Amino acid sequence: MINIPKGTKDMLPSQAYKWQAVENAVKRIAALYNVKQIRTPVFESADLFLRSIGDSTDIVNKEMYLFNDKANRRMALRPEGTAGVMRSFIENNLGETLPLKLFYIESIYRYEQPQAGRYREHHQFGAEFFGSPLPVFDIELICMARDFLRDLGFCDLTLRINTIGCSSCRAKYNDALRGFLHSIEDKICGDCKRRAAVNPLRALDCKVSSCREIYKSAPKISEYLCDECKAHHRSVLDGLDENGIRYVNDENLVRGLDYYTRTVFEFCDGDMAVLGGGRYDGLCEQLGGKPMPCVGFGCGIERLISAAEERGIAFDRALPQVFVAAQSDAARRECRGIVSMLRSCGISAETDLMGKSLKAQFKYADRQGYTHVLTVGESELETGVYPLKRMSDGSVAQIAKKDIPLGIKSAVND
Ligand code: HAM
Repeated sequence: MINIPKGTKDMLPSQAYKWQAVENAVKRIAALYNVKQIRTPVFESADLFLRSIGDSTDIVNKEMYLFNDKANRRMALRPEGTAGVMRSFIENNLGETLPLKLFYIESIYRYEQPQAGRYREHHQFGAEFFGSPLPVFDIELICMARDFLRDLGFCDLTLRINTIGCSSCRAKYNDALRGFLHSIEDKICGDCKRRAAVNPLRALDCKVSSCREIYKSAPKISEYLCDECKAHHRSVLDGLDENGIRYVNDENLVRGLDYYTRTVFEFCDGDMAVLGGGRYDGLCEQLGGKPMPCVGFGCGIERLISAAEERGIAFDRALPQVFVAAQSDAARRECRGIVSMLRSCGISAETDLMGKSLKAQFKYADRQGYTHVLTVGESELETGVYPLKRMSDGSVAQIAKKDIPLGIKSAVND
């Protein structure tokens, strides 16, 4: 017996409707905001991720799925979605008309220690907006994230937001943070000691609770921001207020990837980030493109679905409509004809394919969630009138053969 790889999950047929409801919400909200879909390969040159995510991040240091292809090129399964979209943006010259707003739904691979809400393969709905340095761009993106979450029924996730400044104010802040980390060196974890030397900002993203506690008294970025970064952040927060979006301005929020500039944010369920993103104005140039201001987010679909389940949020579910049950073998051909007619007018329909008894066919229809069962037997073949049972209350309507499929269509839509 070969088992599923550690840290991965099958999406089972009984759960498919939840994923479909999420994907439908993505498509609905994307259309409202004129956001177009993009798909990029599941693997890319490993260099793409080394150059974009940052070599001091956990993702690049410990979590990439790396392999050499047959021509000995170093490749990686994508550990996040932004870098591949940016590679495609540059390579396909997508920036001719700006702004450009893109979304994707894709699988992501990180070799993490599996635990609740943390998988080695997970799925993200991501959005990446290209072209504007203005705070309205950040606001438009966060509004889209809020509308998506609201469409699914979430209204209680906490928006945490911060600014990590531009490269010049961050350099000063990093120096201050490095000094602070050195002063408390004996109290922090080994990873944070290493971060203090390489990229002090990363320490604020440490998952060790004792480190997090100590960092509450770390120097604050707000004391080091330049005037432009300060004004940008103020305008973003004002825009959130104008749009009725409540937030917590959390100065220790830094996120786990290095490409961010200025705004970073997360929608959280308790301590667990369900959706996170921010501005990344330097990434395009860093990967060989033109200077290009951008904002984006990624939403973990597994985390989103489990947060919905915890809250009792129900997902839309389209039930199958008409099961056409055969009472005798002679009726089976008629059943197949009726099923094709129903399908051709857009009604989901099925008939028995297993040679089941009438009782077993009803049991199957009930288990599958069929809303109606039409029965065809000897007497119905003679009279040309078929009973259509509504499964929710057991009521029966008589449908004349000449009225199929329209009579059934109006009965199922009643
Ligand atoms: P991220 O915060 O690393 O950002 O991931 C985005 C979301 O993916 C998280 O908030 C979480 O819901 C989910 N997620 C991350 N890792 C796991 C995991 N191991 N298991 C389950 N879910 C997970 C990014 O990936 C950025 N590319 C987001 C972005 C787009 N920033 C700008 N544009």
